[in-house]
Amino acid sequence: MSTITSSFIEGMKGRRSLYALTNKSTISDDRIEEIISEVVKHTPSPFNSQTARLLVLLKEEHEKLWDIALEIATATVPAEQLEKLYKPRIAGFRAGYGTVLFYEDPAPLKPLEEKWPMLIDKFPEWSNHSSGMHQFALWTLLEAEGLGCNLQHYSPMVDARVSEQWNIPLDWSLKSQLVFGKPIGGPREKTFEPLEKRVFIHGK
Ligand SMILES: Cc1cc2nc3c(=O)[nH]c(=O)nc-3n(C[C@H](O)[C@H](O)[C@H](O)COP(=O)(O)O)c2cc1C
Repeated sequence: MSTITSSFIEGMKGRRSLYALTNKSTISDDRIEEIISEVVKHTPSPFNSQTARLLVLLKEEHEKLWDIALEIATATVPAEQLEKLYKPRIAGFRAGYGTVLFYEDPAPLKPLEEKWPMLIDKFPEWSNHSSGMHQFALWTLLEAEGLGCNLQHYSPMVDARVSEQWNIPLDWSLKSQLVFGKPIGGPREKTFEPLEKRVFIHGK
């Protein structure tokens, strides 16, 4: 097995959901920016449309995001759910160091949709696939640097307020939020379905 293959598999194994995070980072902000830039540059997209847009919030800006989420949840979620679920979870995210918000910009898909009208239903789906690839790559790489991450979905709840606060075009579609920080706890136990139920090889 090549060194790249082994390292990649080790990186995938090391990527887990970590929820106990602190507002410290194991790497510099410049290194975070470098990793994010490499992910955005090298992750594939349909017809190389490069639709991914990443909003990166660190420290006070990250805290602002989760203050906004709590404010909206407080105004919209039933009291019991708010106390039991939203408040402790949002407090956990806010305790981290940063959040990356993954958007997809539909604009680069317009000319492709005009050129290939028979694929018009496929482009939004493929744009989602590409976003997922970005999320997985960044999650894996940040954890390889000793950070802990978890993936959240607070869209559409926070969309309008985030667009207003950080000047994000309203037609960009918010897919997910990757919360990260120096971890103070390990991952939850994880079980695996038998691979025979999931992988089917013919002609080996
Ligand atoms: C598409 C997708 C959506 C997810 N959404 C959430 C989420 O909204 N909140 C959350 O805490 N974890 C979310 N997760 C994390 C999964 O629950 C987690 O990856 C899974 O249980 C396996 O655990 P692991 O990440 O530790 O390997 C999501 C993962 C994926 C791939």
